[in-house]
Amino acid sequence: IASGEFTVQESGWVSLVGAVRGFLFRLTGEGERGPEIPRARGSLASVGGQAFFLPLYELYLTYGGIFRLIFGPKSFLIVSDPAIAKHILRDNSKAYSKGILAEILDFVMGKGLIPADGEIWRVRRRAIVPALHQKYVAAMISLFSEASYRLCEKLDKAASDGEDVEMESLFSRLTLDVIGKAVFNYDFDSLTHDNGIVEAVYIVLREAEMRSTSPIPTWEIPIWKDISPRQRKVNEALKLVNDTLDNLIAVCKRMIEQEDLQFHEEYMNEQDPSILHFLLASGDDVSSKQLRDDLMTLLIAGHETSAAVLTWTFYLLSKEPEVMAKLQEEVDRVLGDRMPTIDDMKKLIYTTRVINESLRLYPQPPVLIRRSMEDDVLGGYPIGKGEDIFISVWNLHRCPKSWTDADKFKPERWPLDGPNPNEINQNFSYLPFGGGPRKCVGDMFATFENVVATAMLVRRFDFQLAPGAPSVEMTTGATIHTTEGLNMTVTRRRRQPIIPKLERKIVSDSPLTRLDQSEDDQVASED
Ligand code: HEM
Repeated sequence: IASGEFTVQESGWVSLVGAVRGFLFRLTGEGERGPEIPRARGSLASVGGQAFFLPLYELYLTYGGIFRLIFGPKSFLIVSDPAIAKHILRDNSKAYSKGILAEILDFVMGKGLIPADGEIWRVRRRAIVPALHQKYVAAMISLFSEASYRLCEKLDKAASDGEDVEMESLFSRLTLDVIGKAVFNYDFDSLTHDNGIVEAVYIVLREAEMRSTSPIPTWEIPIWKDISPRQRKVNEALKLVNDTLDNLIAVCKRMIEQEDLQFHEEYMNEQDPSILHFLLASGDDVSSKQLRDDLMTLLIAGHETSAAVLTWTFYLLSKEPEVMAKLQEEVDRVLGDRMPTIDDMKKLIYTTRVINESLRLYPQPPVLIRRSMEDDVLGGYPIGKGEDIFISVWNLHRCPKSWTDADKFKPERWPLDGPNPNEINQNFSYLPFGGGPRKCVGDMFATFENVVATAMLVRRFDFQLAPGAPSVEMTTGATIHTTEGLNMTVTRRRRQPIIPKLERKIVSDSPLTRLDQSEDDQVASED
C-alpha cells in the first residue's frame, strides 16, 4: 500500500466497496475511551479495479486483526481475527444487527431471514429451520442429480460440437433450477431455456448486487427512482417474481387443503417436498408478505452462493490436475455408473474435502456485515453503539498464521478420517457458513448439492480453461464472481460411465407446479 493522502467526497450513503476502492485511508488522531483501534491509512489507488476484499487483506497484514477504515465522515471496523469474529457472531451475537445489509436488501428481501433482526428473525428462524430436516435434505439428492444430469447433457453436446462453454452462467442456472424446486416447487427450467420469470429473477439479483456495490444510491433519489428506465425494469421484474410467488403460495395452500397427511417433525409431501409446503402444512402463522420475503431470501441465499462455489471449485480443479485425478478416482469408485444417493454423501469424502477447501479459498460471501447495537469491547478495544463492522472471512481463511500454504488449493489439509471442518472445530478461523445463531440454515443442503454436481460432472468430463480465453479474475457482488466468465473446454473422459437415460419429470405439465407459462453437519446450529 503506497502512502499519500486523498480526500473522498461523500455523497450520501457509501458502500464498503466504494469505500475501499480508489481512495485513501487517513490517519486521524481522535481520542476514544481506552486504547485506540488501529486506523488504516494508505493509498489504494494502485489496486483500483480489484475485488474490494483484496486490498482489505493487504491492510490486515499491516494493521492486524481489527482496524478502523476511515473515509470522509464514515468509518468501518474490519475484523480478521478468529476470536473477535467468534465474539461478534456467537458469544455476544445479541449485540449485533445486520445493519447496512438490511438497508440494501430491503427492496427485495424485506424482513426475510437474512436481513431480519430481533423478534422477527427469531420467530422466522424457528419456523424455517425445521423445514430443512434430514428426510428433506435426503430427498433433495435426486433433485440435485437430475439438474446436474441436465447440465451434463448440455456439456456433452458442447463436447461433441467442439465448443467451449462459459461455466459460471451454467452453474448459476443449475443452482437456480435446484433452488426453485427445493424452496417453492417451481421449475425455472433455466438450463433448458430462457423465459420471462428467469429473466426477472436475474434482473432482481443483479439489482441487489449493484446496490450492494454502488457508491451512490441512485435508487433513492426522488422522482428519478420512478422514471429511470433501469428502476422501472427492476420494479416490473420484482412484480413478476412477487406475483409468481403469491400464486405458488395460493396453489400450495389448495394442495394442503386437499391432502390427507398428518403433520409431524419429518413431514414431507412426496409430490412437493418444498420448504414452502412444509411451512404451510405446519400451520405457520405468517403474513403472506413475510412468507414471500422468506421465500425470496431462501431463493437468493441458496442460488448465488452455490453457483459461486461450483464456479471457483472448477476453476481450482483446472489448475490442479492431481487433485482432479484423485477426485475422479473417488467418484468412479464410489458412484460407478449410478446416480448418487444419500448414502454416497458419507463415502464421497475427498469430493467433500474439495468443496471444503474451495470454500476456504473462495468464501461466499467474502465478508459478513454487522452493526453494533450497544457498546462492547472487541479485542480489548472499547467500541460504541452504531459501528458498522465487516468480518473478512477472506482474511480469516487466508491468514498465513492459521494456514500452511494459505493460498494453495490443498484438499489434503482436511484429513479424510477427520471431522467435516466447520467453524466450531476450527475455532472460528474457518467460517464457510458463518457461525453462531445466524449460521446458514442451508449448510448441509448446499454441501450435498455441490458434492453431487461436482461428482456428476467430473465423472463424465475433463475440464480445462479454454485456450485464449481472458484470464479468470475476481469481482465482487454479494458473492465472488469472475470478471469475464469461466470459459472452459470440456472433453468427454476416455472411460465414459454408462448412465441410464434419465426421464425428466414433467413438472411443467402440472397446473399445480407451473404457473407462469408465458415465457455439521448441523452441529454448529445453535438454535
Ligand atoms: C446465512 C453461506 C447456501 C440459506 C448464511 C451465512 C453464510 C452462508 C456465510 C451467514 C451470513 C451472516 O452471518 O451474515 C452459504 C454458502 C452456501 C449457502 C457458502 C452455499 C455453498 C444456502 C442455501 C440456503 C441458505 C442452499 C437455503 C436453502 C441461508 C439463510 C441464511 C444464510 C436463510 C440466514 C440465516 C439467519 O440469518 O438466520 N449462508 N449459504 N444458504 N443462508 Fe446460506
